[in-house]
Amino acid sequence: MDTTMNVLVTGGAGYIGSHTCIELLNNNYGIIVMDNYSNSSPEALRAVEKITGKTFPIYECDMLDYEGFEKIFQENKIDAVIHFAGLKAVGESVGKPLEYYHNNLTGTINLLRLMKAYGVKKLVFSSSATVYGMNNTVPFQEDMPLSTTNPYGTTKLMIETILKDLCFAEKDWKVALLRYFNPIGAHQSGLIGENPNGIPNNLMPYIMKVAIGKLPCLSVYGNDYPTPDGTGVRDYIHVCDLATGHLKALEKLDSIAGAQAYNLGTGKGSSVLDVVHAFERASGTKVNYQFAPRRPGDIAECYADVSKAKRELGWEAKLNLDEMCRDSWNFIKNQK
Ligand code: NAD
Ligand code: UFG
Repeated sequence: MDTTMNVLVTGGAGYIGSHTCIELLNNNYGIIVMDNYSNSSPEALRAVEKITGKTFPIYECDMLDYEGFEKIFQENKIDAVIHFAGLKAVGESVGKPLEYYHNNLTGTINLLRLMKAYGVKKLVFSSSATVYGMNNTVPFQEDMPLSTTNPYGTTKLMIETILKDLCFAEKDWKVALLRYFNPIGAHQSGLIGENPNGIPNNLMPYIMKVAIGKLPCLSVYGNDYPTPDGTGVRDYIHVCDLATGHLKALEKLDSIAGAQAYNLGTGKGSSVLDVVHAFERASGTKVNYQFAPRRPGDIAECYADVSKAKRELGWEAKLNLDEMCRDSWNFIKNQK
């Protein structure tokens, strides 16, 4: 079957990357996946092949290994890149700033140098709502002032800046900066999803471990925020909706001027307790929780103005919180 475009997917074995690979293959894109498996395993890619019935080139490769990375460009015809690879744990980044700056920044610069050398000028980059910092009011809009509170977030902001500078200097680059809000959920097959080792930092993985009895109790960080029930409000988005956002961005890259930022969220805020209760309904389990002090660095509310992505990419999220919880449960209940 004819493929429209060959896309290099960095970090393609990861949580969002693997879901996006499925969407790309199902829409007849050709894909080449590279990952060093520092936060994933080849099993996710085997599941992608099983779900789609398609195979594709896979490179176990570190972005920091320039020569190894170059081999991928030598051996494949690449039309565009979706760049997921990176370290992403906020708390860990505070303790290991050099590791985060080196991996995320040097890795991205290696990628950009190779793209330039091989004439690949189309890029979709995984940015984050974390770049809106602590001082904006919701809903967050793409043109608000940006700031960060931890090294992880700073790598995202610095990469956005690098990409904007690059697009200013070289007008033939086309770059979409996708600012994800809070991705949760899993593919409906139940074969892939997010299941971090150890004690999770993020809300949904924590809830899932409580629901399956691996952890005794969720700590809800703060019940005195100025929100309807006092707990923190976020814009949770189904990972499969996020995946389709990448396809829309790829389709529209040619009409994008320089580097353009897009919020990928639902535009709707849900509190921690909303998520707990939705998960209980979806799973038929009880999620034990207790209130705990606020987590340093957290903001009260974070949700997106999604009008730019709708207007310019023709994309909007379709799945609601109940569906996100249903699919998270469908995935986790089969995990050991
Ligand atoms: P993930 O950790 O599951 O996926 C990232 C992948 O990159 C992993 O498979 C990891 O092994 C790989 N990787 C890391 N460093 C690498 C290197 N040097 N060379 C090759 N591969 C490397 O994370 P995810 O949740 O799928 O996130 C994907 C991207 O989206 C990341 O850049 C992340 O910062 C960003 N993002 C995630 C969220 C979220 O809440 N999940 C929110 C906003 C932005
Ligand atoms: N929360 C709890 N208990 C927990 C974990 C989280 O109450 O055990 C609360 C948090 O205080 C917050 C909400 O649940 O109110 C969501 O927290 P997450 O850690 O799941 O997500 P964050 O919004 O803090 O951050 C996530 C990613 C960041 C990314 C950001 C914006 O971890 O990398 O979304 O996209 F930058």
